[in-house]
Amino acid sequence: MIKKCLFPAAGYGTRFLPATKAVPKEMLPILTKPLMQYGVEEALSAGITNMAIVTGRGKRAIEDHFDNAYELESQLSGTSKESYLKDIKEIIKKSTFTYTRQKQMLGLGHAILTGEPLIGDEPFAVLLPDVLVLDKPSRPRNYSFVRLVEAWEATGIGQVMVERVGMDTVENYGIADIASTDLEPFSSVELRALVEKPSLEDARSDLAVLGRYILPAKVLDLLSDTTAGVGGEIQLTDALDMLIKEGGLNAFETDASTYDCGNQQGFLGANLAVGMRDAKSRAYLASLIKSLGI
Ligand code: G1P
Repeated sequence: MIKKCLFPAAGYGTRFLPATKAVPKEMLPILTKPLMQYGVEEALSAGITNMAIVTGRGKRAIEDHFDNAYELESQLSGTSKESYLKDIKEIIKKSTFTYTRQKQMLGLGHAILTGEPLIGDEPFAVLLPDVLVLDKPSRPRNYSFVRLVEAWEATGIGQVMVERVGMDTVENYGIADIASTDLEPFSSVELRALVEKPSLEDARSDLAVLGRYILPAKVLDLLSDTTAGVGGEIQLTDALDMLIKEGGLNAFETDASTYDCGNQQGFLGANLAVGMRDAKSRAYLASLIKSLGI
């Protein structure tokens, strides 16, 4: 059973300044819901209730969001606006939140290692909150993440969710090397290697790591031996590549739409995609496009 989900949420969000000067990037909203809440809901969908969050300076809004707000609640109590807080109150009731601060920004791998005291010696999920994963509307919510956890439960082997990104963007991601080129959506296959941000020539596929992982505790040992890699940062991908050699790791492909909300286009796309799933917003967007003459 996977009981804990680690959320690296310490980054400065520099690509989103000035919005992220005083607001954590994980608290930027997609319509009315902060990114971090989408991530926590995803974990809850898979039965994970212990949220382990690696934060940093200036991130206290995350802790406040996942806590009771008595003054606000008593103001809204008995009014029609009370329903706005229903979902978040439910999440707070179901989940446990633990936090630790990353003191230096030394990369994703270092952030995960910083979370070790919150995880202990058990397998755990990792979820990058600035990547929004939207499954097809015909499927249950958070279907891909639920299936990812099921793939771990069925095999006992770590799972890394991947998606096809096209060869022209491989340099932005961790890229998978698998034996077969035709990985079917929702199937889990053995990885041969993982390479962080390879050049086009070095990339063995366009299957990119998108920020959802189920990992054995052993990866924390491997991370403590991982030296700085691409960009001078301690890369999670490098520790995972060692894990492939030492015990195995699988790639799990999804056909969900993903949005990197750490960059402007991804953030805009996420807001539009979520808006298009709401009848009122969809009608508004249709009339907006018409009035703009696009
Ligand atoms: C991180 C990971 C990378 C992964 C990406 C997904 O990179 O290191 O392997 O593909 O997230 O968004 P970053 O975007 O932090 O540079």
